[in-house]
Amino acid sequence: MAVDTREPEHRSDRGIPSLRTVAMPADANPNGDIFGGWLMSQMDLAGGTWAAHVARGRVVTIAVDGMTFHKPVHIGDQVSCYCNTEKIGRTSISVRVETWILGRGESRDTEEKVTEALFTFVAIDKSGRPRPITSD
Ligand SMILES: CC(C)(COP(=O)(O)OP(=O)(O)OC[C@H]1O[C@@H](n2cnc3c(N)ncnc32)[C@H](O)[C@@H]1OP(=O)(O)O)[C@@H](O)C(=O)NCCC(=O)NCCS
Repeated sequence: MAVDTREPEHRSDRGIPSLRTVAMPADANPNGDIFGGWLMSQMDLAGGTWAAHVARGRVVTIAVDGMTFHKPVHIGDQVSCYCNTEKIGRTSISVRVETWILGRGESRDTEEKVTEALFTFVAIDKSGRPRPITSD
């Protein structure tokens, strides 16, 4: 049987991650697990990049709902954030962000979901005020 050399996200229906990185020792707490705040900032970056693309310009985070940590993340894990648009309002866009990891060693072939949340961003103008999101 031929070996599937594609990266795990290309073998799933999650699509391409908006952000991919590796959890480093500086991101860990004294117990050796990765800080939840670090993970949230990666998700915010991923969702913000996604929302800025949809809104065609600058956005800011206004809310994070339903942040859930399903499993711990360890140093060396490959961290991928996947985004999907859940709702586009007049000036806001809600993005579902899921984080999946690939562990080191033998579990390298299977991604595991570790966190999820709904991030809401607001498109802003040069003065930092909300601006309408246009579809063209
Ligand atoms: C984002 C900001 C410009 C919005 O200004 P505002 O006057 O409060 O804006 P509005 O009340 O008109 O709300 C704007 C949109 O946000 C939505 N919104 C407001 N509060 C919300 C909340 N708690 N959850 C989800 N959406 C919310 C509104 O429904 C509206 O969406 P719509 O136009 O699609 O219907 C302002 O609150 C701000 O600057 N916040 C700080 C942002 C920040 O510093 N983020 C962290 C760093 S990126």
